[in-house]
Amino acid sequence: MIFFFLLSLATIVSALTLTGPTESNGWTQSGDQMVTWTPDSTDPSTIVIKLIIPLPNIRQPQILSNNVNTSEGSYIWNQPNPSDFNGANVGYAPQTVLQPGDEYEILLVNHNGTQLAASNFTVSTGTSTVTATAQASYAFIPTK
Ligand SMILES: *[C@@H]1O[C@H](CO)[C@@H](O)[C@H](O)[C@H]1NC(C)=O
Ligand SMILES: *[C@@H]1O[C@H](CO)[C@@H](O)[C@H](O)[C@H]1NC(C)=O
Ligand SMILES: *[C@@H]1O[C@H](CO)[C@@H](O)[C@H](O)[C@H]1NC(C)=O
Repeated sequence: MIFFFLLSLATIVSALTLTGPTESNGWTQSGDQMVTWTPDSTDPSTIVIKLIIPLPNIRQPQILSNNVNTSEGSYIWNQPNPSDFNGANVGYAPQTVLQPGDEYEILLVNHNGTQLAASNFTVSTGTSTVTATAQASYAFIPTK
């Protein structure tokens, strides 16, 4: 028993703890949104933050930022306006990328693609009170 326990511990590559968004602490539909975690000394110095926006039959992660300072413990996503994306607005004009619903997922990943933490969460109606201070370096590509 102890042997197997130690073996499984050895496969943990990082001890950062995702604190938001989580299943009990989600995002709101409008405004900029915050990702928070408790860093650990074993973490890589920078991480990649990805978001899965649930679509029928598709769970494709989008990169929100590929160069986040892990020690900061937080990242504010400057939510883009859908009309900023060529073609994304044809025949359908949502005011925000985020729509109220379940099964959104946030993923904290190292630069080798190893997942450090992840959580599903809910987007509810309402507007966040956080504001990004700089344009985020996301590469958001709506799938549909
Ligand atoms: C990362 O954040 C920490 C804590 O705020 C800071 O001390 C450090 O200088 C930052 N590193 C870089 C490369 O910006
Ligand atoms: C990624 O893989 C390279 C090569 O195996 C390794 O040197 C590096 O430490 C890894 N980086 C992270 C963040 O795990
Ligand atoms: C989030 O939900 C999806 C779909 O139900 C599931 O495949 C995935 O494992 C869940 N992620 C976490 C971190 O629980």
